[in-house]
Amino acid sequence: MYNSLTGKVAIVTGGSMGIGEAVVRRYAEEGTKVVINYRSHPEEADQIAEEIKQAGGEAITIQADVSKEDDMIRLVKETVDHFGRLDIFVNNAGVEMPSPSHEMSLEDWQKVIDVNLTGSFLGAREALKYFVENDIKGNIINMSSVHEIIPWPTFVHYAASKGGVKLMTQTLAMEYAPKGIRINAIGPGAINTPINAEKFEDPEQRKEVESMIPMGNIGKPEEISAVAAWLASDESSYVTGITLFADGGMSLYPSFQAGRG
Ligand code: NAI
Repeated sequence: MYNSLTGKVAIVTGGSMGIGEAVVRRYAEEGTKVVINYRSHPEEADQIAEEIKQAGGEAITIQADVSKEDDMIRLVKETVDHFGRLDIFVNNAGVEMPSPSHEMSLEDWQKVIDVNLTGSFLGAREALKYFVENDIKGNIINMSSVHEIIPWPTFVHYAASKGGVKLMTQTLAMEYAPKGIRINAIGPGAINTPINAEKFEDPEQRKEVESMIPMGNIGKPEEISAVAAWLASDESSYVTGITLFADGGMSLYPSFQAGRG
């Protein structure tokens, strides 16, 4: 538990499933008031908010497409209208859709860049605007990926978007450090969420992914939300501009394991 999270207000984009849901639930356990952002289906978000309220916490749901500027402006405005402030913004929403690069449509490229990179910029910009205008030492966390450093054939838009998130995180961290605003990223490895459900249900594919993880197992969303709690808390008060990899060692060149090479 991190006492410094109690009473704070956090927005989590794409907060109704997978890693986002785990972050929402962990923050609520810490006593943080949470805004569960969803894009199109309110049911799951409403259900999570209800469960949090029944457990004595505070949560609301707000629809917004992170790739739309007006939606992101409204997301922060409605949050502040409801809770009176904002302290933490988690840019979690993300999409991926594989395709050989020479056949990738501009539409698919644009979609992934718009959600993963531009959406994170819009979230960060709106949060920063609020923090600066109200003199709040706020906290921004961007859900990056091991693919901010590991190339990923057939996912060129995804890898490019996460590489962009890395330098966006570092640049914003440097720009707003003098104001005490911290901006960090999390680099998950392979985590068991709906984005990967099909892949991990197939024993062959699951085994193949596990063989790329030195610790040998696929991660749980709660192993990422634990990092999001620490980064948002005062326990990480001197940390800004990093990507904290939570990947069971996936980014450590696992093909060299056992002294090969
Ligand atoms: P997921 O597919 O379970 O959840 C993604 C969430 O983003 C969903 O709630 C979805 O509705 C939301 N979303 C998508 N487009 C949106 C939009 N335009 N506006 C608002 N919300 C939108 O995926 P998962 O695994 O929970 O991923 C969360 C983040 O973690 C993503 O940024 C992903 O790239 C990243 N990540 C996931 C890894 C994994 O193995 N699951 C590994 C590395 C990074």
